[in-house]
Formats: sequence, structure tokens, C-alpha cells
Amino acid sequence: MATLAWPGVVEAYRTWLPPVRVVVTLQEGHTPLIPSTRLSRQLGRPVWLKLEGCNPTGSFKDRGMTLAVSAAASDGARGVICASTGNTAAAAAAYAARAGLRCAILLPAGAVARGKLVQAVAHGAQVLAVEAGFDRALELAQAASRAFGDVLVNSLNPLRLDGQMTAAFELCDALGRAPAAVVLPVGNGGNITAYWRGFVRYAEAGRVATRPRLFGVQAAGANPLVRGVPVAHPQTLASAIRIGRPANWQGAVEAARASGGAFLQVTDDEIAAAQRALAREGIFVEPASAAAAAGLAHLPPGDGEVVCVLTGHGLKDPDAVPGVDPVRVAPTLEALSRVLGNP
Ligand code: F0G
Repeated sequence: MATLAWPGVVEAYRTWLPPVRVVVTLQEGHTPLIPSTRLSRQLGRPVWLKLEGCNPTGSFKDRGMTLAVSAAASDGARGVICASTGNTAAAAAAYAARAGLRCAILLPAGAVARGKLVQAVAHGAQVLAVEAGFDRALELAQAASRAFGDVLVNSLNPLRLDGQMTAAFELCDALGRAPAAVVLPVGNGGNITAYWRGFVRYAEAGRVATRPRLFGVQAAGANPLVRGVPVAHPQTLASAIRIGRPANWQGAVEAARASGGAFLQVTDDEIAAAQRALAREGIFVEPASAAAAAGLAHLPPGDGEVVCVLTGHGLKDPDAVPGVDPVRVAPTLEALSRVLGNP
């Protein structure tokens, strides 16, 4: 029998995570960390891109979902439930399907990217569109979890953050040290909380000598952590991070503060430009992830390696790319030569 090169994050980082009896995995994690010549030149310091869109369901959520669903399956839960701007939904649906658990999903109506919705449906989840924004949908998911007994797999579930912490471990393992700074998009504040927890634990265990500064990037129209107050009607093309009242507010603030980092904001135009620029170097990400790349230009001066976390794949949100209808041609070489041919 072939040996598994990579067993998924629960097995790979078993000693750092709470134990589970059953491991539900799609071999998530171990994502590429690649240098960007263009961004390194622009910033005058080495910039690495962590391609979390290469996880099995196309986003970083798989890291936390494998652990949360493993625990639910180990405990004999009858099902899982979450509210989501889309990626948590896709991951919950996939891992629940793998575990044979039922999965209920509450989406903000009309506000979720098509690819994510398709994933949740394809994996057989019960998908409901709540006539409200994400913040209300999350309140409802919590209430429903308490009322019906389904396990909540939003990032309020501590196992989600434990699993996502493995991304910080991977960065240190791949670089052989902690980077100087990590830049990542922030919506509900779970991921930045998890990264900080991971870097602190690795430093405490003597695996790395330093800890990075963490910079959380928000969209200018959905920027509660930049402003320090909730935003009633968050707006941005980056639907994944269209969140006005982050559930992990305190953890996120603590991560930025204790690491010597900050929250930054970027406009939708900057997000779109960053998405285009990354795509032109072969890396297709969804708008929320492009927000992190756009945030690089707003970093305070500093040196040392920067890791930009690209949280979700571009295929998640096909409608974010304008002008995709191809030029129609007759099926002849003549017609091609008019469009492509030399003079
Ligand atoms: N990037 C992407 C692609 C996301 O989907 C999310 C969150 C974030 C960044 C922000 O991470 O919430 O931990 O600060 N998506 C959640 C969801 C809210 O429901 O899929 P965060």
C-alpha cells in the first residue's frame, strides 16, 4: 500500500492539537508558499504568498473544519450547522459529507459568491438563505445550535481556530523561522486569532526565535476593526469579508496589538487591481484574498520577510472578473488569422 506523503493537518500536527478519536480529512494543508518577484520588488523586501486556495475546498477553512468535524464525528453528533459568507459553508458541507453527518448552512441572502453556493449544494448540505446580513445569520446559527443540538462549526467553535493555527506552523516549518510580518484578510477575526495563537505556541516551544507582526486587512466599506466600532451595513465587493460585527473581535484586536501589527483598510478599487495583478502572475484568488495583497502597499516601513496569506481561490467568485465573454470567431484559419495573425 502506498504511504501517504501528507496526511492532513490533524495527523501532521497531532501533538499540537486536541485529540480526536475519528479523523475526518481531505488531506488539507501543506499549501504552496511561493515567492513573488513583482511584490518583492515593489516592497523592497522578500514577499511570499501562501496559497490557501489550494486546499481541498479552495480556502483556508479546511484547516479548521477537519478538526471541528472530526470532533463532531468522534462525539457522535447528529449534524453540524454554520452561518457563512460562503467558504465556511463549502468546507462544512464537504467535511460533513465525508463524515456522513448532516449539514445545515445559513447564508446571507443574495450575498454569497456563486462558486461557494454551488459547492455547498453539491456536497448535499441543507442551504438556507437568511433575509439578513452575515452578522444576523451567525446569531441565528448559534441559537439553532443550542436549540437543535447540531454542532456549531463557525470560528466560535475553538477547534476551528486550533486547526487554522496549523497554517502558522507550516509557515515557520517552510521558512525555517518566523517571517517578520504576516498580512491576511480579516472578516470575522478568526483566522488572525488562530495565526497568532500558532506563532505564540511555536515560539514558546522554542521552534522559532521570533514572532511576526500581524497585519489584518479589511475592506474600507466593512472595516469595524480599523474604526474600532461595528459597521451596521458593511459593503464591499469582497463578499467573504462583508462583516460588520466580527465574532472574534477580542482575539483579532489582541493578535494585532500583541504582535506589534495593525489593521489596515483597502478600497474595492485597490482590491480589484490587486486581484488582476496577481492573476497576471499566474495566481488567481478571490477578492477577499486580493484585499491582503492590496494591503501590502499600506504596510508601515520595515524589513524582513513578509508572508501574504491568499485565503481563497479565484474560482470561488467567477462574477468578480469582468469581461469574460470570449471573442467569437468562425471555425476557420482565415478567421483566426484576422484576430491572431501576423500582419
Ligand atoms: N478570506 C476569505 C476567503 C474568507 O472566506 C474569510 C472568511 C476571510 C478571509 C476572513 O477570515 O473571518 O477568520 O477573519 N470567511 C467566513 C466564511 C466568514 O463564512 O466563509 P476571518
